[in-house]
Amino acid sequence: MKQKSGFSGQIGFVLAAAGSAVGVGNLWRFPYLAAKDGGGLFLIIYLVLVLTVGFTLLTTDIAIGRKTGKSAIYAYESMRKKWKFLGVITFIVPVIIMTYYAVIGGWILKYITIYILGSGKEAVADNCFTNFITSPSSVWYGIVFMLLTAIIVYNGVEKGIERVSKFIMPVLLVMVVGIAIFSLTLKTTLDDGTVRTGLQGLKVYLTPDMSGITVQKFLQVSLDAMSQLFFSLSVSMGIMITYGSYVKKDVNLNKAVSQIEIMDTGVAFLAGIMIIPAVFVFSGLDGMSAGPGLMFVSLPNVFFRMGMAGRIVGLLFFLLAGFAALTSCISVLESIAANCMELFHTERKKTTGVLSIIYLIATAVIALGYSIFYVEVKLPNGSTGQLLDIMDYISNSFLMPFISLLSAILIGWIIKPSWIVEEMELNGKKFSRKKLYNVMIRYIMPVIMVILFLQSTGFLDV
Ligand code: PFF
Repeated sequence: MKQKSGFSGQIGFVLAAAGSAVGVGNLWRFPYLAAKDGGGLFLIIYLVLVLTVGFTLLTTDIAIGRKTGKSAIYAYESMRKKWKFLGVITFIVPVIIMTYYAVIGGWILKYITIYILGSGKEAVADNCFTNFITSPSSVWYGIVFMLLTAIIVYNGVEKGIERVSKFIMPVLLVMVVGIAIFSLTLKTTLDDGTVRTGLQGLKVYLTPDMSGITVQKFLQVSLDAMSQLFFSLSVSMGIMITYGSYVKKDVNLNKAVSQIEIMDTGVAFLAGIMIIPAVFVFSGLDGMSAGPGLMFVSLPNVFFRMGMAGRIVGLLFFLLAGFAALTSCISVLESIAANCMELFHTERKKTTGVLSIIYLIATAVIALGYSIFYVEVKLPNGSTGQLLDIMDYISNSFLMPFISLLSAILIGWIIKPSWIVEEMELNGKKFSRKKLYNVMIRYIMPVIMVILFLQSTGFLDV
């Protein structure tokens, strides 16, 4: 049989998996939640969750992938024939995410061009972002981003994904650290003479705000942190199963899981240092809007107030965001392609070619969801949204907790955790967090996932 292609070794795998995990979620969602949910309080809760829930989910996905050597659909089938359905549901998540991730990548591309071609003034013009996304011509940016993603996946695991990740991830890390340090040096004097500094902003970010803390607030912050964790680690959507299936048997999975967690959480934490002090100095923390608003409206305003330096920082920031989005987007397409290659017994180039055509169309449709195909829908969690938000809701709020719940039941109670532990110890080293893994997968994960699922479907109001 032809040897399955894969990552060349530990570094290639860790950088590609961290590339998938580090995405726009780290840059626009993590800092927003941290500012909203009591600074250090959110940070502490998030950290505890990464080391428990995140560790369990990541370990499970990667070990399933490497042990079965398959992508989600056949991985679950080879574990228990009757559980193939879970593989199919897992496969659906990237299928949905792929319809909109390139659209967001396209928005970033647009802002990169704004900062290359001008001083960034265009980005702070009234309604620049809204005007852009509601114009049908915005689809071209999404299409270019989609094509870029397809070319990388077309070139294969080692020559495409690994090569790009090995270049992008170190550059990205240097950029985040550089902008974070710059952000701490910022200073401004308000009209009333008050001085605001980056270091004061840092204090706001790091200090746990315990004022008015109630059980309900604590629970709400924990649930915010939990749903962020899922999205951020790219778990429970088959991506880490696919990447796991490309890992050689001699790679130390235990270490790899820790390294991926450290990189993902580290970049999210640094994104907070990059963004919160800058927003604090120039517009006070009221400027910390959520999601796209933070990245495409608040931050360009902050960059503009920095004067000359703002153009460079703005360009660097959007390049960094573009890199982060690209390595995430390729992992989504790769996971879909890998499942399709196994399903239809087709080879990579043909599969990627066909998927690219489908997703170029899907990207265009979702991008046009703000203009020609405009709809406004009320979602079960209370928010309203357009096509992109609907896709995001189905995949992240609805399917992901559901998949995690079922996979915890399958591994914890039917197959038993020792099946995963064996794989983690394959290289001869003891799986140091074995006890923690056992308790988490059998008892804690099912409870947490039920709560999360009920909350995101609107049955539990926190
Ligand atoms: N983990 C990425 C982020 O934090 O932005 C997002 C992501 C990548 C989500 C890949 C889903 C996915 F399939």
